[in-house]
Amino acid sequence: MSTGLGASRREFLRAMGTAAVGALGAGWAMAQEGGPGGPGDDRKVRVGIVGGGFGAAFQWHLDPGCIVEAVSDLRQDRREHLMAVYQCEKAYDSLEELILDDAIDAVAVFTGAPDHVRHCTAVMDTGKHVMSAVPAGLTLEGCEQLIEAKERNGVIYMMAETSHYRPETILMRQLYQDGVFGEIEYCEMEYYHPARPGSAERQALWYWNGEPTWRHNYPPMLYPTHCTDFIVGVTGERYTEVSCMGLRPTAEEDPETVDNQYDNPFDTGIALMRTDRGHITRCNRSRLLHAHGERAQWFGAESAAFMPSWAGQPFVVKRVGEADLTSHPDYMHLLPEPMRVPTGHGNSHAFLTHEFILALLQEREPEVNVYDAVAETAPGIVAHQSALKGGELMKIPSFDPA
Ligand SMILES: NC(=O)c1ccc[n+]([C@@H]2O[C@H](COP(=O)([O-])OP(=O)(O)OC[C@H]3O[C@@H](n4cnc5c(N)ncnc54)[C@H](O)[C@@H]3O)[C@@H](O)[C@H]2O)c1
Repeated sequence: MSTGLGASRREFLRAMGTAAVGALGAGWAMAQEGGPGGPGDDRKVRVGIVGGGFGAAFQWHLDPGCIVEAVSDLRQDRREHLMAVYQCEKAYDSLEELILDDAIDAVAVFTGAPDHVRHCTAVMDTGKHVMSAVPAGLTLEGCEQLIEAKERNGVIYMMAETSHYRPETILMRQLYQDGVFGEIEYCEMEYYHPARPGSAERQALWYWNGEPTWRHNYPPMLYPTHCTDFIVGVTGERYTEVSCMGLRPTAEEDPETVDNQYDNPFDTGIALMRTDRGHITRCNRSRLLHAHGERAQWFGAESAAFMPSWAGQPFVVKRVGEADLTSHPDYMHLLPEPMRVPTGHGNSHAFLTHEFILALLQEREPEVNVYDAVAETAPGIVAHQSALKGGELMKIPSFDPA
């Protein structure tokens, strides 16, 4: 057990400044020093954007290294929305048509979760790079397919996991990388997104034009990455085993859950997971509980860090023998100037956008690459299977290169 005891307060606070650039991505410092992807580099990545819901919430048009070449959605209103947001005049009726456009280098896939593997594989098989919305996939076979497609085509895959670029996560990554925090022995992570029976939130998420959407009765543990990134994206650890229990509403409590498209009986999953370094995590996912938000609290022997919570917990990092750290930087000054705009999910969107473009210009693997993406997704897939078996302890396969 390492505790980071030797770190001084000066080292602790170093993580607050521009030194934190290393926690943003492997090439951010190189770009700032005038290397590839920096201010003197006038090359442009031409992207296509698919999915005009959440896919319209990124900053492609503001990135100095990017041109939005084309957009697509099956819905005309959303195609028009994407064209307006990204100031782009070329639109396709479907992803399948967009990916045939040779002017496009990379595609951002923001379609529904059950389509990610099929859509991202189709993109990569045209030789284009891809950014995928979360989760990477819904099955272990799908995770494998993504890795095969990435390796077969020699392209870059990145998953747009918003938790990765929340400012508290960036700070934790820096504190961990600098050895200031020490080992994270235990973590509590949670993603609560209420969609209770009869609520307006459920109606908006579960139905479109009177028909069920892909979110209708979606198994909570198949959406784990906002949680799992708090460890995989901070320490690089992999989850190896999980035991999960679920809350099952009865047909009387929630009649809309009967005969659903996923045969999913759960509205909540509570998982205990172990990492390849022997550490433990408790991961909560729920659409039922009276709670809200995406957050973690990390514990070591000499340090603990708490993200703010909906219930009133303030942000704080506590260390034995040190004053509490009660504020953190927003890191916005490390983005290109036009991209320093407020966005959702802790202002993470512009960082995700820029990291993908920088990785392409620097011809390197991005943050949340395909191996990280499946390492964040697979624990939830196995957790769901565990819950179906009453909490059986199950192994999580590794998808990392041998
Ligand atoms: N914090 C986060 O990271 C976060 C937040 C919200 C959503 N998401 C993810 O983003 C994705 C999109 O979410 P959403 O809420 O906008 O979902 P959504 O279902 O509202 O939108 C998906 C869009 O994709 C379009 N689409 C589907 N197939 C297509 C095809 N073949 N060609 C062109 N367009 C196609 C649909 O018409 C639809 O407009 C989901 O995977 C979701 O999990 C992530």
